[in-house]
Amino acid sequence: MATSIAICSGKGGVGKSNITVNLAMVIQSMGKRVAILDADFGMANSHILMGINPEHYISEALSGEKSMSEIGCPGLKGVNVYSGGSGLLEVLNLDKTKRFQTIRLMDEIEDQIDVLLIDVPAGASDNSVSFVSAADRAVVVLVGEPTSFLDAYSFIKACHLEMKITNFTIVVNMANSAAEAKKHFDRFNAIAMQFLDVRLRFGGHIPMSQRIRKSVIDRKPITARKSDLPEVVAFQSVAKQVLDAPMNTTNGIRFFQQGKSGEG
Ligand SMILES: Nc1ncnc2c1ncn2[C@@H]1O[C@H](COP(=O)(O)OP(=O)(O)OP(=O)(O)O)[C@@H](O)[C@H]1O
Ligand SMILES: [Mg+2]
Repeated sequence: MATSIAICSGKGGVGKSNITVNLAMVIQSMGKRVAILDADFGMANSHILMGINPEHYISEALSGEKSMSEIGCPGLKGVNVYSGGSGLLEVLNLDKTKRFQTIRLMDEIEDQIDVLLIDVPAGASDNSVSFVSAADRAVVVLVGEPTSFLDAYSFIKACHLEMKITNFTIVVNMANSAAEAKKHFDRFNAIAMQFLDVRLRFGGHIPMSQRIRKSVIDRKPITARKSDLPEVVAFQSVAKQVLDAPMNTTNGIRFFQQGKSGEG
């Protein structure tokens, strides 16, 4: 059965899409079949980081014009990207029915993949919270800034209060050192523990890196090539932590629901 992992943050621009794409690369290298659902409807851009250009979007599968196999855009290493589309104003806000349909559409590819990574839009909208709630695991990207702490906290609070999600893996991005990243996690965890009944787990860090910045400009994920660069090693380590994290078993609509209902 395929597993689903949502990459979220609350705050925008902290590196969700970059982390989604690079985790896809390293998890695929571990021998698993991976796909990306870019759930940032209307502003999807994970395909840009992978250097590919989808011709069709989820909206076309929702309207029945295209099948999911036509929506999947083949990316690097055989990772397919299912894009929410960019510049498509009409799908910026998915209503509840369309969200439900989108999650069910992914069932069509379940037997083709082992891991689905969901690039969740910034903010604490119903869309974002619902996609996290539908996934087996939640990864929250944090950077060492008060605004990121505040938005990540608000997002986790919304997920917990609205959907009873309890397990979150925190990945510190743009960190200057492992020690600094762990310090950020400890501070954030202390705040969350004080006010919320959630379990946060440290998933490691990704260094602040000019090479990562350049890989974005070049539209080629840093992990696309085999290497022992510290950035690549960091993504491999985070991938292991994420795959190993405890699962959420919320009630309600879930990705790849078969066999999952009634667990939570
Ligand atoms: N570890 C890193 N080191 C240096 N730059 C980084 C790192 N991670 C991300 N960036 C830069 O940060 C910017 C934002 O990254 P990204 O688009 O992945 O963020 P996001 O959270 O998906 O944003 P949005 O909320 O707009 O979807 C990019 O320009 C990228 O180059
Ligand atoms: Mg993004």
